[in-house]
Amino acid sequence: MSAPPAFLRDRMRALERLPAYVYDLDGLGENVAAVRGALAGGPELFYAAKANPDPAILRTLAPHVDGIEVASGGELAHVRATLPEARIAFGGPGKTDEELALASNLDVERLHVESPYELERLAASERPADVLLRANLRFGTTGAALQMSGPFGMDEQALSRCAAVLRDTPHLTLRGVHAHLASGLDAPAMLDLAARITDWALPWLRANGVEEPEINLGGGMAVDYEAPESRFDWKAYAAGLPAHPSVTFRVEPGRALTAYHGWYVTEVLDVKTTHGEHYAVLRGGTHHLRTPVTKGHDQPFTLLTADDTDDTGDTHPTTLVGQLCTPKDVFARDAPCPRLRPGDLIAFGMAGAYAWNISHHDFLMHPHPHFSYPARV
Ligand SMILES: Cc1ncc(COP(=O)(O)O)c(C=O)c1O
Repeated sequence: MSAPPAFLRDRMRALERLPAYVYDLDGLGENVAAVRGALAGGPELFYAAKANPDPAILRTLAPHVDGIEVASGGELAHVRATLPEARIAFGGPGKTDEELALASNLDVERLHVESPYELERLAASERPADVLLRANLRFGTTGAALQMSGPFGMDEQALSRCAAVLRDTPHLTLRGVHAHLASGLDAPAMLDLAARITDWALPWLRANGVEEPEINLGGGMAVDYEAPESRFDWKAYAAGLPAHPSVTFRVEPGRALTAYHGWYVTEVLDVKTTHGEHYAVLRGGTHHLRTPVTKGHDQPFTLLTADDTDDTGDTHPTTLVGQLCTPKDVFARDAPCPRLRPGDLIAFGMAGAYAWNISHHDFLMHPHPHFSYPARV
């Protein structure tokens, strides 16, 4: 959903300070409970904190997920402080010795090892750890928003080196493999990938002495910013996963859990027509909401004060920009809008994931946005 529910619109119109991120925690809790229900009896559900590590979001998700995936020492410390009891999996490239030590001190349950060198340092440390080896498998996928190839994980040669190290290192236990290979896939494409990962992983793990393997299939469940009402088909996904009673499957989505439950609310500061093109300059910018720039899309939005802006009902293609001194500071290009006026309020939807926390906050030193968590009445 991109348009805010009615109760939120009223609260957004009453916001005293703009821009503001508004999170619907009730809606988020319901969404994740529904995902949990759809996956019942299937894979474990971890939340990828990188999508949005806001403490209120983490606390809302916690009762409905099996654990949290973190990708840095910073995320690890933050999640452990916010959710002292959570099961945590720690992945991500370039882990430092300090981060590996922190993993042990903060009770990380699974370490996703990214390279032979990382494993060798773990082996040398003599700290016990349960590891999944992150595999970089060359399975072609079509339609992915992002292919996680390049530096992530290891090819079969590097995996074999790791298996040899693990055989000689009793304080490290090989539990399985991790394979987050692509992002933005629908359920059939994800299932196709899951089947190929499993077909490769099970014989490989058995050959390396793992009796009850774990396969982490990563995240990347599709979120369609052009069709905010569409949803990843979690039921079909759970039903289609390979059935192996002795195998624990795990998924770690981020975007598909939180994207729908955040809005970036702001106001029109200025309107102008330049060389025949209409622009609305908004308070804030993509230093608060970088998502449309990184994804190359128009961020879906709702005009909260649209009813009284245009008596004719006509729309005018308008480009919505922020306050930054760069032509890249664009939320939406040539979007059909009633004629906007300074003071009109706009709520950008699907801003609950990879939004504030991936943005370059301090460019131009504008104030940071406010955060609001209105409860349903
Ligand atoms: C290893 C890993 N797991 C999980 C995720 C979460 O992906 P998404 O938010 O697309 O579900 C990512 C995202 O990049 C990732 O790199």
